[in-house]
Amino acid sequence: MTPRPIIIDTDPGTDDAIAIWLALASPELEVLGISAVAGNVPLPLTERNARKVCELAKRPDMAVFAGCSRPMLRPLVTAEAFHGGSGLGGTDLPEPTMPLQPGHAVDWLVDTLMAAGDGEITLCPIGPLTNIAMAIVKEPRILSRIREIVLMGGGFFAGGNITPAAEFNIYCDPHAAHVVFNSGVRLTMMPLDVTHQARTSRERIAAVRAIGTPVGVAAAALMASHGKREAQDRDKDGGPLHDPCVIAYLLQPELFGGRHCNVRVNTASEATMGMTVVDWWGVTDGSKNCTVMNRIDADRYFALIVDRLARL
Ligand code: BDR
Ligand code: CA
Repeated sequence: MTPRPIIIDTDPGTDDAIAIWLALASPELEVLGISAVAGNVPLPLTERNARKVCELAKRPDMAVFAGCSRPMLRPLVTAEAFHGGSGLGGTDLPEPTMPLQPGHAVDWLVDTLMAAGDGEITLCPIGPLTNIAMAIVKEPRILSRIREIVLMGGGFFAGGNITPAAEFNIYCDPHAAHVVFNSGVRLTMMPLDVTHQARTSRERIAAVRAIGTPVGVAAAALMASHGKREAQDRDKDGGPLHDPCVIAYLLQPELFGGRHCNVRVNTASEATMGMTVVDWWGVTDGSKNCTVMNRIDADRYFALIVDRLARL
């Protein structure tokens, strides 16, 4: 089977790191490169963290590009409370020796997509959507080259996690999200409604730690640190492991269930800024622009993560 070419757009980010490892460990996927964006922590940290993560997986050959250092219109909001000051929780991954690629991630996205055939490349944004939206605005012809965008972001029945109404990735750059959700490209969304069912537990973290490799040990530490604050906030034992849902969906779509509906991103009111308004019940005639997931088989999700991370 020819591996599916993907690009990961990311703000590592504890759960981003695990998503990157899951992709690098999976022969069904060919990671063409990684574009870093400002989000959980500022850009100089996210691009360096992306390189640390690749290097721990013995992939210093992976192309990592730095993209936008702030959202399109709003000031940058970060999430150190969830990801620690470094973006990788308390873990101490070695400093990367692999270089950052020259050039801007948005230019690389545009060039890579323009060089591809129609419907060839899948984009996997697991941070704010700034880089993706900027690429679409810069060169709209890239849209025909995109097979699908599978993103982590938003929430509807689950509410928000950074404000009562909004999920962090969409809240951080709601205008970029608006561009992506109105682009007409095939879109699949992993909102908090899914990721809040994908919670770590002592047993799930222990299974990852038991892999015993540097990646396994680091992934267990990241899972433990990521969960803490979000578990406390919701009075739960484990925290949601958001971003790997995007990669798991590409590997085993049958683990997820959802519905094709109209989704709009609110950019008009401050109280609900970045809210994803999902027309789950079809009460408007808005066009169905997104497949919104709301179910996951969490046991099989964590089993997949253990199976794959053990290969690195
Ligand atoms: C999303 O926000 C970030 O903090 C996580 O990495 C994830 O992408 C969850 O709301
Ligand atoms: Ca992220």
